[in-house]
Amino acid sequence: MNIVVIGTQWGDEGKGKIVDMLAAYSDMVVRFQGGNNAGHTMVVEGEQFISHLIPSGILQNKHCIIGNGVVVDPLVLLEEIDFLSGKGIPAGPKNLSISEKAHMIMPWHKQIDLARENRKGSNKIGTTGRGIGPAYEDKASRTGLRFIDLIDRDVFEPKIREALEEKNFYLTRYFSAEPVDPESVIKMYGEYAGRLEPYIADVSNMIHETIEGGGHVMFEGAQGSHLDIDHGTYPFVTSSNTLAGNACCGAGVGPNQISEIFGIVKAYTTRVGRGPFPTELTGEIGNRIQEKGAEFGATTGRRRRCGWLDTVILKNAARLNGLTGLVITKLDVLCGLETIDICTGYQYRDTVIDRFPAGLKQLDSCRPVYETLPGWSEDISAVRTLNALPKNAIAYIKRIEELVGVPAAIISVGPGREETIMVRNPFNPV
Ligand code: GDP
Ligand code: IMO
Ligand code: MG
Repeated sequence: MNIVVIGTQWGDEGKGKIVDMLAAYSDMVVRFQGGNNAGHTMVVEGEQFISHLIPSGILQNKHCIIGNGVVVDPLVLLEEIDFLSGKGIPAGPKNLSISEKAHMIMPWHKQIDLARENRKGSNKIGTTGRGIGPAYEDKASRTGLRFIDLIDRDVFEPKIREALEEKNFYLTRYFSAEPVDPESVIKMYGEYAGRLEPYIADVSNMIHETIEGGGHVMFEGAQGSHLDIDHGTYPFVTSSNTLAGNACCGAGVGPNQISEIFGIVKAYTTRVGRGPFPTELTGEIGNRIQEKGAEFGATTGRRRRCGWLDTVILKNAARLNGLTGLVITKLDVLCGLETIDICTGYQYRDTVIDRFPAGLKQLDSCRPVYETLPGWSEDISAVRTLNALPKNAIAYIKRIEELVGVPAAIISVGPGREETIMVRNPFNPV
């Protein structure tokens, strides 16, 4: 049984917690896109871990794979490995593998990312500044550097020199920035190569061997469906396909290997960075949710914008990903609100639409149409079965299921691994 777990909104839905919890039932956990723009939080026995690159199965000591679709900053990866090792958590070549085909984030990618954002001023995207976009650009323009290059100095050194001829021209002439010294990059990446070589592998074959041996593989998405480069709120998106379909290309497996697709849905909506957000709440309720939900970016520490749940985007995510189950997270955060609004459509000119528009201009003139549900005041963080939830919380879940057309499989009522209501465990088919 192989499952893809992805975010349905604009990221930070709680993927890390859910993947860590479900990893107990799986044999292998695979990241397939994005890079260290992601920040996935796991809380185990009260201790918080934030993973940017290493899959969230690492704390359960499962074989973790960084697939070919990920762009990897080797320094960040080494820092994560060292951090985990320091805590006594195994993160060595036995349980962590990196695709030889994955592209590397180079120092100039970060510089270009930041210089571009600075130059754009108020028009900036609000990227994480980690060099993600420029790294994917080089992959698409066929000038990127892959891990397989890293371990072959004869390939690596000329590639760096060649790349920097163009990048330094761009950095110095267009941004008036300092050039990057190729020799220092060759030395730095040579040191990374020495440490990372044992991790570099043909991971597509490893995944296939696990599947053929009857093992369970979980594919861990990063970002969210509406940050997808094709289907998100372009240009306010990330630079990869974040949808479930990309689990196949980004890991090297066929679509017929995937049997479940779980979409993580935060019980309200958040967004970090710029871009359209129809149900954003800028007043008191938005602040209250932001504070109660501790909505600060796990990667950049930025305050997350907050708003009501938007089922227009959730329906879009259900279709784009082919969701088979919803995982509703942070339900506990809504406790204490007298009423809860849920967006069921957008008022656009003189009609109500329930399809997410592609154009930013159209989206800008959409106003959310709300249905108001009664809230609940009981603390639900200790609840472990659906029926033990307050009746208004159950009604809220049911209404989400109805509007989105996908049943809820898991409800999360706190950041801890055990603070979970498992309605249907995908690894234990009935
Ligand atoms: P990810 O990027 O999708 O993995 O999500 P993040 O880790 O960036 O953000 C989710 C935040 O919510 C983290 O701080 C989690 O510890 C926390 N979290 C996850 N699930 C729950 C939940 O059900 N209730 C509460 N209160 N916090 C949660
Ligand atoms: P996880 O996996 C939330 C956002 C950035 C910015 C846009 C482009 O933790 O859910 P990028 O650096 O990717 O070029 O930035 O995408 N973004 C995220 N927002 N969660 C994430 O990841 C994100 N990764 C990127 O804030 O708006
Ligand atoms: Mg996050």
